[in-house]
Amino acid sequence: MKLSIDNVSKRYTSTLWGIKDFSLEIENGVLGLLGPNGAGKSTLMRILATISKPTTGKVFWNDVDISKNPKALRDELGYLPQDFGVYPNLNAIEFLKYMAAIKGMDKKIANRRIEELICLLNLSEKSKVKIGSYSGGMRQRIGIAQALLNDPKLLIVDEPTVGLDPEERVRFRNLISDLSLDRIIILSTHIVSDIESTASKIALINKGNLLTKCTIQELLCSVENKVWECIVQEKELSDVRNKYIISSSVRQSDGMHLRVVTDNILFANKRLVSPTLEDAYLYYISDSRGNEK
Ligand SMILES: Nc1ncnc2c1ncn2[C@@H]1O[C@H](COP(=O)(O)OP(=O)(O)OP(=O)(O)O)[C@@H](O)[C@H]1O
Ligand SMILES: [Mg+2]
Repeated sequence: MKLSIDNVSKRYTSTLWGIKDFSLEIENGVLGLLGPNGAGKSTLMRILATISKPTTGKVFWNDVDISKNPKALRDELGYLPQDFGVYPNLNAIEFLKYMAAIKGMDKKIANRRIEELICLLNLSEKSKVKIGSYSGGMRQRIGIAQALLNDPKLLIVDEPTVGLDPEERVRFRNLISDLSLDRIIILSTHIVSDIESTASKIALINKGNLLTKCTIQELLCSVENKVWECIVQEKELSDVRNKYIISSSVRQSDGMHLRVVTDNILFANKRLVSPTLEDAYLYYISDSRGNEK
């Protein structure tokens, strides 16, 4: 399986680009698409899901140009959009049957698959209750179930963990890990911990541009020797915040304990620490915003 994004741009207005000159090769496994609000994640995913067309550039699914033959991709696609809407008057089974019909699935195969998915996503207890009465997390699980109906080779999920409680989040991560064999999964989020345990590769995106694509290990290595712990007094805090990327701050009796991500640190009282993914994310995102490091 291979998805190639070749120099794709999407222009919304004469001055606003959702993504710009975006190129990326995606192979089997989980790709975590990580970026802040407005980075262009949903724009890219809508293009990959053939919901929207790029202004320029091309996307190839197993070397087939999807603008010429979108069906080749659509037949193997599962997509959970960020703004996924459900029909509140249908129950889970009715809704999934409806979605299967839209996808043109054979009735018998669909019914068997729906039973499996209801079980897999822990929806059995409420499968005959109207979706309108579901919690946010349960609705999200219905969204994930509909994306998995056709056992897709390409699964695109846009902010799938929004609204999930911590236990559901863990369950979702495990599900993604189990599914990741022999298919491409693209998962967008701005929550670093969502992809820490599931993604084999990370693509960092900001302002419509791809900043880097690498493994988590490579990302962590790239900020080795750049993350420091230091103690500052309250009165220095706002100055330090203006100058540096602060990934955490904890007030203690001897002052504020800060985690600072920087190329050049000017404090006397400092200690080098191992970087986390959150540190690396902030380093790259702040850099692309043009902040001082
Ligand atoms: N339909 C649209 N019309 C005009 N501008 C749009 C449209 N969709 C997105 N944009 C703009 O394109 C940019 C990228 O938006 P996009 O929704 O792709 O970002 P995102 O990374 O998904 O953000 P979020 O984390 O908030 O979901 C933003 O500046 C956004 O305002
Ligand atoms: Mg989005």
